[in-house]
Amino acid sequence: MNRKNILLAAILFPAVMAYAQEYGGMWIPTELNEKEMKNLGMKISAKEIFDTTKPSIKDAVVQFNGGCTAEIISPQGLLLTNHHCGYAQIQKLSTLENDYLSDGFWAKNMTGELPNPGVTVDFIADIKEVTAQVLAGTQGLEGKAYQDVINKNMEAVKATFKLEEWQKMTVKPVYYGNKYYAYLIETYKDIRLVGAPPQSIGKFGSDTDNWVWPRHTGDFSMFRIYADKNNKPAEYSKDNIPYKPKHFLPISIKDKQENDFTFVFGFPGRTTEYLPAIAVEKIMTEIDPAMISVREVALKTLDEKMRSDAETRIKYASKYASVANYWKKWIGEVEGLKKSDAVGKKKKYEATLMAKNPALKSTIEELNILYAQQAPYALNKAYYSETVRNAETLTLANFYYNYLPAMESGKLDAKATETFKNRLAGIYKDYDPVLDAKVTAKLLALYANKTPVKFLPADFEQYKNESQNLVTIEKLSKNSVITGRGMINGATTYTDINKVFADPNALVQNLKNDPLMKLFAAMRENYMKTTDGPNNEIQEKIDVLQKKYMAQQMETDKERKFFPDANSTLRVSYGQIKGSSPRDAVHYNYQTHVAGIMEKYVPGDYEFDVPKKLIQLYNTKDYGIYKDKTGDVPVNFTATNHTTGGNSGSPALDAYGNLIGLNFDRQWEGTMSDINFDPRFSRNIMVDTKYILFIIDKFADAKWLINEMKIVK
Ligand code: ARG
Ligand code: ASP
Repeated sequence: MNRKNILLAAILFPAVMAYAQEYGGMWIPTELNEKEMKNLGMKISAKEIFDTTKPSIKDAVVQFNGGCTAEIISPQGLLLTNHHCGYAQIQKLSTLENDYLSDGFWAKNMTGELPNPGVTVDFIADIKEVTAQVLAGTQGLEGKAYQDVINKNMEAVKATFKLEEWQKMTVKPVYYGNKYYAYLIETYKDIRLVGAPPQSIGKFGSDTDNWVWPRHTGDFSMFRIYADKNNKPAEYSKDNIPYKPKHFLPISIKDKQENDFTFVFGFPGRTTEYLPAIAVEKIMTEIDPAMISVREVALKTLDEKMRSDAETRIKYASKYASVANYWKKWIGEVEGLKKSDAVGKKKKYEATLMAKNPALKSTIEELNILYAQQAPYALNKAYYSETVRNAETLTLANFYYNYLPAMESGKLDAKATETFKNRLAGIYKDYDPVLDAKVTAKLLALYANKTPVKFLPADFEQYKNESQNLVTIEKLSKNSVITGRGMINGATTYTDINKVFADPNALVQNLKNDPLMKLFAAMRENYMKTTDGPNNEIQEKIDVLQKKYMAQQMETDKERKFFPDANSTLRVSYGQIKGSSPRDAVHYNYQTHVAGIMEKYVPGDYEFDVPKKLIQLYNTKDYGIYKDKTGDVPVNFTATNHTTGGNSGSPALDAYGNLIGLNFDRQWEGTMSDINFDPRFSRNIMVDTKYILFIIDKFADAKWLINEMKIVK
């Protein structure tokens, strides 16, 4: 678009976001569209966002525990991320007596901060494009020969960097293997919990409000990075000191206006924006619905017991939230794909591309054939994986199954045994075999009913009936090592994992004779034979073609500015603070306020209860410096930044690089943005920094934390 058209577009389609963001965008920080960002209002330079010679904003942004994003907000390594990102840690530290989920947790000082063994944060010290080196010598090669050269080249690239003990290098493909980037990563390992609001704030609205706007969730928690005396990464030690960052984010509590420039800096996990129409159609009509149906059953079964039993509620809180999260996401995704006519749009795009470049025709035709061939296998994969993931007894069996060969041949060394034991202990800690027997019984029935006979193990038809399954599972469990109800070595529960491992040979023999293990092994071996093999074989061909299709899209569509699909590496998304008009006669404002929390308040409800103290602050309007010009404290806001899973906890920054919000979700009408970003409906949702500081200051009275921060008024 030229300038005139841009202006015209801005006048004609005010609800549509800034030009050129038609397809969204998650940009590699070394390759930012500085000009467009400035046109949209950015006042800093791209260098101030990412620089390796001077401190820059990237020095304050980390990947939190391999999944979420977090940012440093004080000179003492104070870390801000989402409540749902710290949820597993908060849950693990909670007991019925010290229930931090329900009551929140606020350290009184640094000594009171709680260690979280195993939690890490990763800094990205450098990013280098290494395409030429990685693809060198691959011309004319295919299949394994091609991959072998790539692997060798990637190792060679890594070897060119001199690494310190705390650094590692990863090389990752983008554009389906058309380009490669190397990332220099520094990992810190002593991460302590500093504060978390009660879940009635941090998870307010819970699953009902999840993925939905208008929203009123205080989805934040705080940790601190500790380092050794030299400010370098170290394992937990009480002698470690707070990490001194190269950069930390100043926090703005200025009022927000619609159309203000904003960018989100973080680690988006996975998107697939460049798939052919056929692939999108399969996701929308087959894969998503299958996965939704399995989770639906599991969730309903867990929910019944969680509502009536406090111990179960704590035990299953984190697992339930994560299963529910994508269950709901997929429902929204299917709706959004339909509403945005993603398949129709892709088909049209394919036709335009083919008209410009006839070479594309065969690529798309072949993809159509392959996806059609793959469909039955892909569907069975969806059912099988979701069944094993959600029936924990099967998850456990799968876990033992993977370790069994090494255990049996005595190849499981002391270190691997320790890891295995720790992971098992982690699973058993929150596992209720009686509750899970119900889930497993139902999911086995679903699997038996939904799967074509040719994909089922022999005699599996007997599992078609839920109640019958429950009787069977109950019976098999009594003699099972897996459920912990068939005891060995006198271990009464699996918290006693050392007793279970006391005699490795006995464990192996027990597992081999275990009736549940046998049931699972039949499922898995059959799945591997009938589905996994053929599915992967077709997938390999699809991957080769998808790489070609990606390159052809980029060659042919010269007007489009392409960005690589998310792959859990550091990215910048940018846009403007904006509401939306997602349906006829419905307009969403861009921000919510505390008064809205009170509108949703349902006393005693497990999703919409409000803590007394917050009600009191609301009644007395004790908002301090955190209210905006309306006199109320803004809670959440939306913008047009293109985000996905993994962006949770990402900083939302203003034109000057100050923190204005904490990304945590997207709105329902736009959740298909992982596959088809639509500027009309796709919005990211953030917690307003005013609300975060208000909660820390007025609700938690943790002024010592506010004093550490740099506040921009
Ligand atoms: N939907 C958000 C994301 O994908 C928030 C999830 C956490 N909340 C929940 N109710 N499960 O992670
Ligand atoms: N809630 C997501 C996360 O945890 C963010 C999103 O999917 O928009 O990363």
